[in-house]
Amino acid sequence: MTVSTTPTAGSPVLRTQYQKSVAAYWNTNQQDPVNLRLGEIDGLYHHHYGIGNYDPSVLAGPEQTRDERIIAELHRLETAQADMLLSYLGEIAPSDRVLDAGSGRGGTSFMANQRFGCQVDGVSISEYQVDFANRQATDRRVADQVRFHFRNMLDTGFEAGSRQAVWTNETTMYVDLFELYAEFARLLPFGGRYVCITGCYNDVTGGRSKAVSQIDEHYTCNIHPRSSYFKALAANRFVPIHVIDLTSATIPYWELRAQSSVATGIEDPFLTAYREGSFHYLLIAADRV
Ligand SMILES: C[S@@+](CC[C@H](N)C(=O)[O-])C[C@H]1O[C@@H](n2cnc3c(N)ncnc32)[C@H](O)[C@@H]1O
Repeated sequence: MTVSTTPTAGSPVLRTQYQKSVAAYWNTNQQDPVNLRLGEIDGLYHHHYGIGNYDPSVLAGPEQTRDERIIAELHRLETAQADMLLSYLGEIAPSDRVLDAGSGRGGTSFMANQRFGCQVDGVSISEYQVDFANRQATDRRVADQVRFHFRNMLDTGFEAGSRQAVWTNETTMYVDLFELYAEFARLLPFGGRYVCITGCYNDVTGGRSKAVSQIDEHYTCNIHPRSSYFKALAANRFVPIHVIDLTSATIPYWELRAQSSVATGIEDPFLTAYREGSFHYLLIAADRV
């Protein structure tokens, strides 16, 4: 199989001022300890949140090692989140190619390769992240199987029908969902699987709450309402097979993070938004028909 390596001819990776500002955010937030200190534990660098209950014993014990225990626990919960996402990809053979759309520093991509032995491509609009993740691939001796590209997930340039699965782990709030799912529908063959983990605001409580607006402002993103996901999927021949509300599963992560040295100040808006019901943390798995 030939895999095209160039996006649509003549189209720049960063097409809009908005995309340039998102790329600048990820290019300049390189030394953020919340991501680096956790990643240094085992070389899996995540830029997403965690799920599951934390072990309360991390808060007890000697004061001087308390923060280290919290950091390790936050990392465990973030890895559990990626594990859950991967468990909804369905059957993936070593010969399959999968796409990590908005791949960050590559944590979920490496986990997919470890789990399935498959070929993984990650795309990000941050050149810094792409270089970082490709260095990781070399260090982990999987550069022939896991590759990262400076590309736009709205126009990846990969060959039509070339992916068995595509996922987005907390990246959809940066793009128009209709455009995104049109591109994924092009990349996946009939029966291919798409999995998404995302925060979305609650149509039932109305528009963006104050807390959701604070999250948008903090990350330069544009959180979508829950309804937009299902409209955009249906419009692009995706049929959801699982929809899991992970909101209650992610609250402990935020409670623990709020007590850590790596708290960034965005913990309170997340906790408020989740607790008041204006915001959900959702997993959606859908089949391309
Ligand atoms: C919150 S981070 C998530 C990173 C990764 N999925 C993870 O779980 O660690 C958001 C990512 O989306 C990427 N991104 C945003 N807009 C994008 C676009 N139009 N095309 C490709 N990547 C994009 C950013 O560069 C960043 O890597």
